[in-house]
Amino acid sequence: MAGDVSGPLCKDLCVHKNFHFAECLSTVPAKKIFGAKWREREVVVKINMSWFEELEKRQEFAKGKEVKSYENDISTRVRTLFGNCARCSELVSFLVSIADSDNDGKITGAEERSFMSLLQQNEAMMLMALNNSEHTVDFYGYCAGLYVLEKVPHVTAKVFEEKWELIDLSFLPEAVEPIQTAIDNLGGIILQAVFSFLQYLNAHFPNYLPMKINFVLHTFLATHVPSKREKFRLAYSLIDATLELSNNPYGLVISCDANLHNFGYTSDFVVKFIDLDLTYPLAFVKSLLKKKNCTCDSDCWTGVSEICCSACNTTTRYCTSEMQYHDLHIVCEAIIPKIFSKRNIRESDDTCLTNAIHELAEFCSRLPVVYTIEELKLEIHAVKKRLRSIETSNKC
Ligand SMILES: Nc1ncnc2c1ncn2[C@@H]1O[C@H](COP(=O)(O)OP(=O)(O)O)[C@@H](O)[C@H]1O
Ligand SMILES: [Mg+2]
Repeated sequence: MAGDVSGPLCKDLCVHKNFHFAECLSTVPAKKIFGAKWREREVVVKINMSWFEELEKRQEFAKGKEVKSYENDISTRVRTLFGNCARCSELVSFLVSIADSDNDGKITGAEERSFMSLLQQNEAMMLMALNNSEHTVDFYGYCAGLYVLEKVPHVTAKVFEEKWELIDLSFLPEAVEPIQTAIDNLGGIILQAVFSFLQYLNAHFPNYLPMKINFVLHTFLATHVPSKREKFRLAYSLIDATLELSNNPYGLVISCDANLHNFGYTSDFVVKFIDLDLTYPLAFVKSLLKKKNCTCDSDCWTGVSEICCSACNTTTRYCTSEMQYHDLHIVCEAIIPKIFSKRNIRESDDTCLTNAIHELAEFCSRLPVVYTIEELKLEIHAVKKRLRSIETSNKC
């Protein structure tokens, strides 16, 4: 494509107008995230504003220079992140092929600058490197700093963390607005009570609630929170996702921001990472930490401090590269219990299940952090076995 920017989706975006932008998904000024429709597909379009700074640097740098070093630049970027991995050259070749966005066998200045600036965006780089994984959203392509991803129908935080709004229950009249305000002020306590009361009514007097309310209530709540069986499917898939992230040809990978907001799932309950801004190769995190000066353990972290952290060696005054946690710990100790703690209105309180999940979390907290894929597979196997015995046991 002529001009200063390039990418395989530029024609679709600027000439054929194949994108129909819908909702804005982020309020953070540093990035723009939109839901859109592209060639009959639901997609998410992202752009990190720091891409423009990268491009500017490259434009200055490129003045009067021939584009020859792009392959070296891609290789440097790959090795900075993944270290000297045995199969890094495969990743370099793959990225070189994507950089040639019009497939004419040549890389123009515009192609080089657009793509190299995109590779500096951690999420775009990691999504391309992990694009074969079932548990990361598909990367469909890019134009300049804008990249296009598979949109997942459910974001886990929306299902398991956010409070219900009365407005979601569309059968209720507009007069509920003041009630909603009261609910907002009371942090959802009333709403929870209303739902508990309706659940009680429904369980004890099945014919009491008017048909319409009963139907909408069931549909709404049933679609909103997955059933117990579905929660187990999500939990297995989450555990698989933590393994899949690392089970790639280039080395172990760690998410330094694993939380319900950054996962989504398909209608088949396949969990996918949707936010890889702070997902890095373990080799990169370890090398960052090793270079960090410290006086105490709380200096030794990257990404989110509670997740990707090591300890301070007070003799050398440098951080160690022994991680305190792996994603499996975060998923098993924090995320899975949250999924099971959100009740589907059709199900009654299940203290036995809650206790069993709590015991599973305790088991996970005793698992050591491992540094090879073989060891990780063993740990994952052990956790899934425990989860399966909870699911099939007659106790709960
Ligand atoms: N692939 C996706 N499918 C569905 N929703 C998404 C996707 N990517 C992002 N979103 C929505 O946009 C929100 C913000 O995206 P995210 O990449 O997590 O940005 P941030 O860094 O601001 O957290 C997510 O919490 C989610 O609601
Ligand atoms: Mg996020």
